[in-house]
Amino acid sequence: MKEIKIESTFFVYNCLEDLPKDVLLLMKEANLARKNAYAPYSKFKVGAAILLDNKEIVTGNNQENASYPSGLCAERTAIYYAGSQFPEAKVLKIAIVAGSQKKLTNKPVPPCGACRQAIAEYEINQNTPIEIYFMGETGKVVKSNSLANLLPLVFDKSEL
Ligand code: THU
Repeated sequence: MKEIKIESTFFVYNCLEDLPKDVLLLMKEANLARKNAYAPYSKFKVGAAILLDNKEIVTGNNQENASYPSGLCAERTAIYYAGSQFPEAKVLKIAIVAGSQKKLTNKPVPPCGACRQAIAEYEINQNTPIEIYFMGETGKVVKSNSLANLLPLVFDKSEL
């Protein structure tokens, strides 16, 4: 038996204003998208904004459904839209803002496991890392230099 250790590194920005200019803009777009989330059941609204290498910014938000599992997270809404509209473009950065309407969300909210798996597909296909930035409604922003950091031991197409 042998032990394997996997390390991930994250970077924490104390506030929005500390972000690089392009990321601040992306975060603002994510926050705008968040306002249009359809989240009547969870009251938890999420917005995502994606910067592509063709300079396009694509946004999305969570879309819930009376049949709960039929809903979709913001990150997947956004990345599937990007994939459908700009299939040749690479995803450079994703900014995510999440917050509850029932209480103040002042700590960074990372993407769920299913969204990590979805983003991994794009990162692996394009063969370049995707930067992920996530935050609550207010407070610190966490940056991951790649999706791989957030999803060690990924299941991917090489298994098929
Ligand atoms: N949600 C997202 O949009 N992204 C995530 O990464 C986590 C969860 C949404 C799904 C659902 O509409 C609500 O937040 C509560 O789970």
